[in-house]
Parts: sequence; C-alpha cells; structure tokens
Amino acid sequence: MRKPIIAGNWKMNKTREEAVALVTALKPLVKDAACDVVVCVPFTDIPAVAEAVKGSSIHLGAQNVHFAPSGAYTGEISADMLLEAGVEYVIIGHSERRQYFGETDETVNKRTLTALEKGLKPIVCVGETLEERETGKTEQVLERQIKEGLKGIDSIASVIIAYEPIWAIGTGKTATAQQANETIGFIRRTIAENFCPKCAEKIRIQYGGSMNAKNAHELMSMPEIDGGLIGGASLKAEDFAAVVAM
Ligand code: 13P
Repeated sequence: MRKPIIAGNWKMNKTREEAVALVTALKPLVKDAACDVVVCVPFTDIPAVAEAVKGSSIHLGAQNVHFAPSGAYTGEISADMLLEAGVEYVIIGHSERRQYFGETDETVNKRTLTALEKGLKPIVCVGETLEERETGKTEQVLERQIKEGLKGIDSIASVIIAYEPIWAIGTGKTATAQQANETIGFIRRTIAENFCPKCAEKIRIQYGGSMNAKNAHELMSMPEIDGGLIGGASLKAEDFAAVVAM
C-alpha cells in the first residue's frame, strides 16, 4: 500500500508573517490526516515555518536545490543549507523552472541525485504541454523526462513523482480523473520497464494542476494517483485542509 502524499507548492507567495499565519491555521485542521502533508515554501520562509510546524503533522519542503555542495552559483541553494534549516522534501524540475529558468532533464537528474545522496526527499515534476498532448506526444515526452531525469538512481522508490500537465497548471483546467489515472499508469509502467518493477509498485506519483477541494476526491479515488501537488489551493488553510481530507 502506498501512503498518499498531499503537498502544497506555495511558489513565490507568502511573506514570513503570512507563512506563519497559514501554517498555524493549518495545523489543527490536518492533525489527523491519513496522508503525508507537506508545505513547500519560499526559502526565506523556511526557518519560521520550520519552527511553527514543530511537533505537528506538517512536513517542510523547499522548491529547489542545487546539485553542487557549495560554490559560485549565484541565486542557488545547497542541500546542506536546506537540511540545516529543517527541510525534509524538495520540489525538483517544476515546469515553471523548466520554462523560465532553463531547467533541463539533465539538471533535474543532477539535482535529484544530490538530494537523495544528502537525505532530502525529492518531488520530481514531469508533464507535457498542451501542444505535446494535442499532437500525441505525451507518452514520448514523459518517457524522456523519466528516463533522463531519474537516470542512475538506485533508490527510485524514495523519489516522489508529480505528474503536472502544463496546460492544467493555474488554468482552472484539470485533467479528468481518467486522463490523470491513465497517464500516471503510463509513468508507473515506464519506471517498471526502465528501472525496477518492484519500485514501480512502491513509488508514489502525485497529480498536480488546478487540483482543489472540488475535484480532489475524484482524483484521489483513482488507483494510480497517490496524492497531489497543489498550487493555488494550498495558499489558504481551509482550502488546503479540504484537499488533505479527501
Ligand atoms: P495550481 O494548483 O495552481 O494549478 O498549480 C499546480 C502546481 O504547479 C503545483 O506545483
């Protein structure tokens, strides 16, 4: 059995004060959650949120990690820095990073290898554009992202994959539960064929893209879907808690 994992990706939202207010409101609402609950917060919020979630059921995540231990990488952050600040999970290769900041399958792979080596739990994002879906390239794109992004990793089952179709992010347009289930099933088969069948059964694969309290139940009742990576609906305690409760 795979334990579901619901993670909030706050993206570039919430000052420190707002962040503390949000997790403080969230704590009692998710204290009996049957799934793992994670909030992936901006770097500057990390210390305050780490303090605020102490002793609660909320786990702390970041939104990026560099592959080098230290050095001349302006604007980046190392795994040791995140671990020291109390971070447990880290999002890697979000489509916004691929689209706006030149992230590639190769850098996703390097970041993921470092995260695992250091003991961070990576949430690796994959997903196709609308054009790729409409021209029948979804499987080809996902297969490449999985094979390249996870190359050389032997502890595949410790990775969490987030399937986020780019056309569903922030658009209010969710993949249907069937579409998401089928595509996540394809990702699982790709892992079984290219890595190991046992890990494919164990690895948790989330859906992400306009997931909210209204559609979470249907998505979460699908056999292949092990949770969600939530953007907009993670920015209010009640909205996020409603998704966690599904
Ligand atoms: P939305 O839930 O706002 O569509 O964002 C999804 C996402 O990108 C989470 O990483």
